[in-house]
Amino acid sequence: MGSYLTRWWRESSWKSKSEMEQVTEGSNIKKTLHSVKKYIVLSFLCLLLLFIYTGYLSGSQALTTISHTIFWNHSRSGSSGSSNISSGNISGSSNSSDSSSSNSSIRNVTILLWYWPFGHVTSLQGDVCWDLYHIPRCRLVDQHSMFSSADVVVFHNRELIQGIQKLPLDLPRPQGQRWAWLSLESPANNGNLQQYANIFNMTMTYRRDADIVLPYGMLEPQETEAQLVEDVTQNKSSLVCWVVSNYQNHHRRSQVYRELLPVVPVKVYGKWTNTNLPSSDLLPAISRCYFYLAFENSVSKDYITEKLWWNAYQGGAVPVVLGASVSDYKAVAPPNSFIHVDDFASVKDLGRYLVELAKDKKRYSEYFTWRQHWKVKRLAEWRERLCKICVHYESLPQHRVYSNLMAWVNANY
Ligand SMILES: *[C@@H]1O[C@H](CO)[C@@H](O)[C@H](O)[C@H]1NC(C)=O
Ligand SMILES: *[C@@H]1O[C@H](CO)[C@@H](O)[C@H](O)[C@H]1NC(C)=O
Ligand SMILES: *[C@@H]1O[C@H](CO)[C@@H](O)[C@H](O)[C@H]1NC(C)=O
Ligand SMILES: *[C@@H]1O[C@H](CO)[C@@H](O)[C@H](O)[C@H]1NC(C)=O
Ligand SMILES: *[C@@H]1O[C@H](CO)[C@@H](O)[C@H](O)[C@H]1NC(C)=O
Ligand SMILES: *[C@@H]1O[C@H](CO)[C@@H](O)[C@H](O)[C@H]1NC(C)=O
Ligand SMILES: *[C@@H]1O[C@H](CO)[C@@H](O)[C@H](O)[C@H]1NC(C)=O
Ligand SMILES: *[C@@H]1O[C@H](CO)[C@@H](O)[C@H](O)[C@H]1NC(C)=O
Repeated sequence: MGSYLTRWWRESSWKSKSEMEQVTEGSNIKKTLHSVKKYIVLSFLCLLLLFIYTGYLSGSQALTTISHTIFWNHSRSGSSGSSNISSGNISGSSNSSDSSSSNSSIRNVTILLWYWPFGHVTSLQGDVCWDLYHIPRCRLVDQHSMFSSADVVVFHNRELIQGIQKLPLDLPRPQGQRWAWLSLESPANNGNLQQYANIFNMTMTYRRDADIVLPYGMLEPQETEAQLVEDVTQNKSSLVCWVVSNYQNHHRRSQVYRELLPVVPVKVYGKWTNTNLPSSDLLPAISRCYFYLAFENSVSKDYITEKLWWNAYQGGAVPVVLGASVSDYKAVAPPNSFIHVDDFASVKDLGRYLVELAKDKKRYSEYFTWRQHWKVKRLAEWRERLCKICVHYESLPQHRVYSNLMAWVNANY
């Protein structure tokens, strides 16, 4: 706002000065005329200032302030992490006449993925982050030749541990470049991370305290209140269902399952019982159950997978959850949408609760009312996860090194 006005003032006074030069060459009448003109211009200026001061022009004032802030941030940082504000929108609508802040200083953040997770290569043609997710100024690349110009280099843990990819420790790391450690596995499945001390500058995991938080799913508000299903129990024929391929006696979830059995019948699908479901049959099978055991294979902080976000919520069964703490679930899942094993004094109590709840249609359907206001979004695409870096790029700490990555990963507070 300040400099906008100042420039306008400067331009005006410059104009009158050049006019004055012309006048000195002319007659006295012209001189007098000019004085009058100058007087008018000055009066106008004073009035204008007064108007602005009293907030008469508050609308346009706000507009100039916005465009100014944004341009100032761009010229300072070189790139913008304010993904909220789509560049097209602001610069298009505010139509600032500030030509000095051309977009030459706006640059892309370059994200280099060193090796595709699980070897699943995906196309990076075009402006992927913008075209697919409306995230501006974010360039995804996967060629090692881009190393020297990358702002962030991303390493997916599994292929590091397996030795399929190697860290380019022999290459000089450009000033300011960050290396990101990416994993969506629970600590037990991340392997030995001892060797990765003092290497990474940022973490990308499902944990809420990671630098880039990559949950398996999240809530989004419904734009308009959604119609609820009239009778959620309509097609249900099983009380409790569980899908398990990797059954191991020592898992806490196996123990809970065994204790639950005497109280409630559990219909089990999956490799363990040789009743593997083709993926197209998974959700329909779950939809026929009142409750779905969304039991995670690890009990670790924030580890909440597609078992909740996809199987249970999408399948339309009430999830019975086990894994992360009650407060972890409460922090991300809709209120009154799940039943946590830890909320019961015993597994028997849990079993009795489920039996009673299934009999009470009204109370049971209250576990679905959140759908009026929320919908579930899955975060399942590697490209989307990578684009998310750009959203938070500007707010990353200026300097950070994970001096003991293993300790960070295993922290379970
Ligand atoms: C611009 O930078 C200032 C100061 O760093 C910050 O308070 C403001 O939120 C930034 N605005 C945008 C749009 O990024
Ligand atoms: C987007 O804007 C909302 C509210 O204006 C804010 O809470 C949120 O943190 C912003 N997100 C990003 C990525 O800047
Ligand atoms: C700006 O954003 C608003 C809301 O996000 C949208 O309705 C409008 O069409 C956008 N305008 C432009 C010029 O992109
Ligand atoms: C922006 O300025 C140009 C040139 O002055 C004008 O043609 C255009 O209509 C303006 N756009 C808006 C959105 O004000
Ligand atoms: C500004 O951006 C537009 C569209 O993104 C581009 O066509 C134009 O060449 C850019 N101008 C400068 C000076 O970089
Ligand atoms: C940013 O990257 C996209 C996608 O690669 C590209 O289309 C665009 O031209 C780049 N913009 C700038 C300013 O470098
Ligand atoms: C029950 O199944 C029928 C037939 O497939 C379907 O139209 C209906 O939406 C289902 N009801 C619920 C509550 O899922
Ligand atoms: C990233 O980590 C390396 C290795 O420890 C360090 O030298 C570099 O300064 C860090 N960079 C940033 C931006 O934090």
